[in-house]
Amino acid sequence: GAPVKADISKLEPGQRMVVEWRGRPVWILDRSTEMIQRTKALSADRLADPDSSKPQQPDYAQGPLRSIRPEIGVFIGICTHLGCSPLFRPEPNAEGVGVDDWPGGFFCPCHGSRFDLAGRVFRNVPAPLNLEVPPYYFESDAVIVVG
Ligand code: FES
Repeated sequence: GAPVKADISKLEPGQRMVVEWRGRPVWILDRSTEMIQRTKALSADRLADPDSSKPQQPDYAQGPLRSIRPEIGVFIGICTHLGCSPLFRPEPNAEGVGVDDWPGGFFCPCHGSRFDLAGRVFRNVPAPLNLEVPPYYFESDAVIVVG
């Protein structure tokens, strides 16, 4: 499939937009400074693959935030368990995510998998892998090319 361009100029900190690439949803998340801090502060003990050792992201999207720019996260919005679409639950202590100290992230309603705001999967959930990061680059400050 052809690469897809996303104009992120209207995306505000804390917001997410969705584009489609190769028939799959791609989430583009603008993480606020506070969201970045929360994500970096998350204890590695809670995550199944905190250092992203599995090949779920390009080499240029390493580190705890799994991204090129710290604020912009780009993920395939499909649960790595059985392919449901996780819900965006960015606020700390959101209800319905099954833990009472939720740091913000994504929650899969199908079987309860949880991912942080960098798409890293929590421990002890059905999903085995972090969310996939597709290949992407910044064509300009405001335009991301996915693919
Ligand atoms: Fe997401 Fe099963 S498909 S937890």
